[in-house]
Amino acid sequence: METQSLTIHVKKIEKSKIEQVDFNNLAFGKNYSDHMMYCDYIDGKWQTPQIVPYGPMEFSPSTKVFHYGQAVFEGMKAFKDDAGRVHLFRPEENFKRINKSSERLAIPEFPKDYFFESLETLLKLDHEWVKPGQGNSLYIRPFVIATEEGVAAAPSDAYRFMIITCPSQAYYNKPVKVLFAEKYSRSADGGVGYAKAAGNYGAQFYPTNIAKSKGYDQVIWTDAKTHQYLEEAGTMNIFFRIGDKLLTAPTSDRILDGVTRKSVIQLAKDNGIEVEVAPVEVERIKNAAKAGELKEIFGTGTAATIAKVTGFEHAGDEFTLPKMEVEYSELMKKYLQDIQYNRVEDKNNWLHPI
Ligand code: COI
Repeated sequence: METQSLTIHVKKIEKSKIEQVDFNNLAFGKNYSDHMMYCDYIDGKWQTPQIVPYGPMEFSPSTKVFHYGQAVFEGMKAFKDDAGRVHLFRPEENFKRINKSSERLAIPEFPKDYFFESLETLLKLDHEWVKPGQGNSLYIRPFVIATEEGVAAAPSDAYRFMIITCPSQAYYNKPVKVLFAEKYSRSADGGVGYAKAAGNYGAQFYPTNIAKSKGYDQVIWTDAKTHQYLEEAGTMNIFFRIGDKLLTAPTSDRILDGVTRKSVIQLAKDNGIEVEVAPVEVERIKNAAKAGELKEIFGTGTAATIAKVTGFEHAGDEFTLPKMEVEYSELMKKYLQDIQYNRVEDKNNWLHPI
């Protein structure tokens, strides 16, 4: 059945796949809801967004994204409250950031009304895929790829903006052990570290595999110039609790301006926890650990929510974090999820009802 609305063209799936999905055993990002959105940029203009059944698409082997990685993405989530209403969490931030990332990758800006109308239409259609209950959400992956055919190394003149969605539970289902980077870097001054450029993630796989072979789950990237400052974990921003204070690195052109990061900073402050946003020296963290003052490390991200770190290694020195009676990571997760599941007043207007 096909319907035409103001700006979106919708083609519904004939039979939902929802019954084939075991919602109690979801591997992150492996199951996709019934519909997806795509919108092409042709002749200097974004065309009518299309919502169609989720499925494969055909591209020529010369399509530019395959050769030059001209691609950016976002990660966002929708939550269902106890009354069955679906809310997006801070979608405006994702909208702004995807265009900021696009600008850096020479991709044309995507219009705001297309973004929000597409999301709303898609989520109304697939609302059954947003399961209620603690830990459940629908992970939403908007992305843009360069679709012009041709292997000349120049920006594409055609793009496809897409949105796919995946029902999700925890990204990391156990606490993580991390390795502080000594050799490899994720980003550099003047580079693309602040953007959600696809290549930022692919470039981390090799050094992360090395860390994994040593028993670590993630690398905490250090600054490329000196490797003396801790920056981010690649799939998460990172917080350190020293005594009763939280410490996190400031955003820069090397560090992603995480939506969960900025929400946690605000929620911590709102709840009387001091937050220091300042360069995080490796030595400061190691010294605090040696003195017993380093109480917690945790990562924040849309996919990861809040991921607890149990230990770290740097230059052969291994540290195990203490078990705290009151964990800030748990407190922050509670503050955040109380808003996301609409259990408390949304004072900051972070929820966008669908
Ligand atoms: C997100 O948290 O949405 C991210 O983009 C991390 C992702 C690479 C899993």
